[in-house]
Amino acid sequence: MIKGVIFDLDGVLVSTDELHFKAWKMLAEELGITNFTKDDNARQKGVSRMASLEVVLEKAEDTYSYQEKLELADRKNNYFIKLLENLTDRDVLPGVIETLSLLRKMGLRIGIGSASKNTPLILKETGLESYFDEVSCGLDITRSKPDPEVFLIAAKKLELSPKECLVVEDSNAGVVAAKAADMKTLGVGTEYKKLGTDYEALTLQNEIDWSAIVCNAL
Ligand code: BG6
Ligand code: MG
Repeated sequence: MIKGVIFDLDGVLVSTDELHFKAWKMLAEELGITNFTKDDNARQKGVSRMASLEVVLEKAEDTYSYQEKLELADRKNNYFIKLLENLTDRDVLPGVIETLSLLRKMGLRIGIGSASKNTPLILKETGLESYFDEVSCGLDITRSKPDPEVFLIAAKKLELSPKECLVVEDSNAGVVAAKAADMKTLGVGTEYKKLGTDYEALTLQNEIDWSAIVCNAL
């Protein structure tokens, strides 16, 4: 029986994945990389800031020391935070509020499991904060997805066992992490068919039989 739902943030609840792409592209161009693409960006989804930087640097001619990499990651984050200034509740993805309200009515515990260290800021700017019982994010973890740590911490905070949790994800790294945590998975987003999740939907606006998922009846 599922007693709690743990949501990834970027690309599942909020359209911030687009802003990550813009900020990385700005950095890439400054480094002389003009061919940083959406396909490259797809490999950054769910993984940590430093792992995302490595995806950009695969296309760089120069090599960088660890200290320089920290500075580059910081520079990208400053661009990202600047873009977040314009974030409002209009950036919450379709069906999110309705889904969170429904799950609350069903008596489920609701959490966040995101690699992003900007999670508290994003939740505040979009007005989503109050919908969640617990938040596990980049600030809580030492290992990023595909490691299960972020979801295991979320389950612990929700006082649930992994088997009582369902994870909603849009990234491959996130689905691998959720499975490694022994949790059920619902895949959403443009790549949802490729994720190999237990359940799938293009967006949370699609009809999803939550009662059947909760009872493990699908
Ligand atoms: C994930 C994103 O949610 O957070 C990744 O999908 C991102 O693309 C990661 O790299 C870390 O985010 P931040 O905000 O801590 O740089
Ligand atoms: Mg995501």
